Amino acid sequence: MTTVIDGKKAAASVVDAVTSAATALERDTGRKPGLAVVIVGNDPASHAYVSSKSKMAKQCGFKSVQHTLPEETSQETLMGLVAELNADPEIDGILVQLPLPKHLDSDPVIQSILPEKDVDGLHVVNAGKLATGDAETGLVSCTPAGAMLLVRQIHGRDLSGLNAMVIGRSNLFGKPMAQLLLAANATVTIGHSRSRDLPAIARNADILVAAVGRAEMVKADWLKPGATVIDVGINRVPAPEKGEGKYKLVGDVAFAECAPVAAAISPVPGGVGPMTIAMLMANTVIAAYRAQGKVAPKF
Ligand code: GUN
Repeated sequence: MTTVIDGKKAAASVVDAVTSAATALERDTGRKPGLAVVIVGNDPASHAYVSSKSKMAKQCGFKSVQHTLPEETSQETLMGLVAELNADPEIDGILVQLPLPKHLDSDPVIQSILPEKDVDGLHVVNAGKLATGDAETGLVSCTPAGAMLLVRQIHGRDLSGLNAMVIGRSNLFGKPMAQLLLAANATVTIGHSRSRDLPAIARNADILVAAVGRAEMVKADWLKPGATVIDVGINRVPAPEKGEGKYKLVGDVAFAECAPVAAAISPVPGGVGPMTIAMLMANTVIAAYRAQGKVAPKF
């Protein structure tokens, strides 16, 4: 029987642990964890993500602040806001929602966030700490941290002897995911658009993580029978069966044909998606504990 990995349940248990940790911090120090989320422009998908992040932060007992800036915001204004949030002692975590409007350069903005407040794990200091194995003081990007938690549910913490493949090499996901798998002793391959034969490489993987942004690209004949498949894609595709003009969300993995071949598989929606927000809350509470000089909880 294939295990369909329940990301909603895993996320709920992380959120419970975060809420308890936030309550304990407030009791001991009088301080709530503080999360600031910054969004620039009018992209509807980004607005939907940001409002669920702000809502979840409140639910966890955090101080939650949202800054909504107009499309025409200048680089200077945005960097000025980040500088203010860096200096604000009530803010432990800062997230600037990506992508930014085209006239803005995201890298200087992200790199100007203090590494200890970079709850997205995108600052070079945090990427470097992950690459050098410093889990004690760094912050790990939320989606890979969440995907890794799902991998741990199936395989435990030690992936010695297992082949893992990540398809996708972004800074936001593919590279940090590969680092996490490597840190857990897996033998890791990163595949991408210039790889020669992705299906052949994938067939060698005990753990296959797909983050390519192409609807249902991974087919059943890409899988090693019995593999664990983690689908990080969220693709909106037409769904005429639901009515004219309707859409549905599908992953990067063709779920219906892959599920019988895999031993464990994460669905879309309801797999990695809910984990991303949960791990953002986890990073914020970790940053808040460290800011108070306390040992941070682990998730
Ligand atoms: N846009 C899509 N995913 C993310 C994320 O994890 N962090 C940020 N900042 N923006 C995103």
